[in-house]
Amino acid sequence: MRIAPSILAADFAQLGAQVDAIADSVSLLHVDVMDGHFVPSISLGPPVISSLRRHTKLYLDCHLMISDPVRYLAQMKEAGADGVTAHIEAIPDPEPFLAEADALGLDAGLVINPPTPVAAVEPFLDRCAKVVVMSVHPGFGGQTFIPDTLSKIVTLREFIDSRALATDIEVDGGVDIHTAGPIRSAGADILVAGTAVFRASDPKAAVGDIRRVCESKGDP
Ligand code: DX5
Ligand code: ZN
Repeated sequence: MRIAPSILAADFAQLGAQVDAIADSVSLLHVDVMDGHFVPSISLGPPVISSLRRHTKLYLDCHLMISDPVRYLAQMKEAGADGVTAHIEAIPDPEPFLAEADALGLDAGLVINPPTPVAAVEPFLDRCAKVVVMSVHPGFGGQTFIPDTLSKIVTLREFIDSRALATDIEVDGGVDIHTAGPIRSAGADILVAGTAVFRASDPKAAVGDIRRVCESKGDP
């Protein structure tokens, strides 16, 4: 079970130090790219990813909440992204995204918003390094986990296991010590946590707390 702290909840003026605080507790960092169009907020883009790349060896898991993700894939690669995930709601035909990411050597994934059924991404999962279940509506950190999304994690787990796919299930939004156990039990591989980590008084301890909750739920 992997925890991906989301820097959206970090203090951007202290970003390097905030990443350093959790760097030896995690293997990946979740980077939320928002364009003010696909979602109402604007967050950050390739310049910040470049700075992070120079600062850390952590896997940069870039969540593209943008309307035209294919257009920016080369910039993401150039900036130092390791993985990119795009919303099926933005690219109903994800083939060009998956093909371009593959050509650039980026791990690709598809994201589904809370109202979107898993069937929207199932046909493409054999080509995805990960599938991301949004457990809040995208655009803002600090929202409350939507429990209805748990059943989508269960369905995806069954789909992936029954086909022996290598696709990881990532869950994004409202992850904390109360929700992490049920999310893990439903079958998630990667938990994104922003507020619960970077707004904690001790972010490293907060990662440990989330991990412990998952392990007590029978982490294999
Ligand atoms: C929301 C983002 C999330 C967000 C999670 O649009 O995709 O990654 O940072 O933040 P928390 O953990 O605060 O819900
Ligand atoms: Zn995200």
